[in-house]
Amino acid sequence: MFEERVPADYSEMDLFKAKRFDKKVKGNFMPAIVSTVKQITEDYGLDGVCVDVGCGTAVFTIELCRHSRLKIYALEKENAICEVARMNIEKERFTDKIIPVLGDAHELPFENEFANFIISRGSYHCWGDKVRVFKEIYRVLKKGGIGFVGGGFGRYVTEEESNRMKSLRDHSLKEGAKAYSSPDKLREVIHKAGIPNFRIIYDKAGLWVEIKK
Ligand SMILES: C[S@@+](CC[C@H](N)C(=O)[O-])C[C@H]1O[C@@H](n2cnc3c(N)ncnc32)[C@H](O)[C@@H]1O
Repeated sequence: MFEERVPADYSEMDLFKAKRFDKKVKGNFMPAIVSTVKQITEDYGLDGVCVDVGCGTAVFTIELCRHSRLKIYALEKENAICEVARMNIEKERFTDKIIPVLGDAHELPFENEFANFIISRGSYHCWGDKVRVFKEIYRVLKKGGIGFVGGGFGRYVTEEESNRMKSLRDHSLKEGAKAYSSPDKLREVIHKAGIPNFRIIYDKAGLWVEIKK
């Protein structure tokens, strides 16, 4: 039986920063979140158990929950960010459908074949050992399950929305993160993780890998 994990402790400053991050996402990146959720619900017709890896303050998770029948485990490694995620989930009254989980993508706190769908948006570039995280994602996916990992704005943003968000994002993205935004690098990582059935998507929607187990 899975036990809910919530943050143990964090400083007032961490909480302040997490709330500021949350405000930025809600103020600047909602079109990308709405667009990506519309895309994945259309493409995968989602049902069952989902893990959102690196969920941030769960703004994306909540939008996904609103448009699917998924039960979602929202995993985040930063205490204060996870706490703001918990607050958002409570405020939106999704506590029965979204479970906040404090944990690290490198060691997912779920049993083998736990999830029908694993999503991770905008977190990949932070992972220190990307091969290990993809192995974890593959382990936790059920047979017949789908993983969708990457970053971008989804195919339904307008050009104007896309340009505005790009300028805001590129401003804050570290050089190291940009270097990982290549389909070849992503393909290499997936190969090293030993995942046999996958497809790289590199188009208007962003850079993603779709994994089928
Ligand atoms: C840019 S945010 C994206 C948030 C959300 N997925 C979205 O689409 O808006 C990336 C998040 O991934 C989290 N993260 C980074 N590395 C992680 C790891 N190893 N395990 C869990 N979460 C991680 C960060 O703390 C951050 O909150």
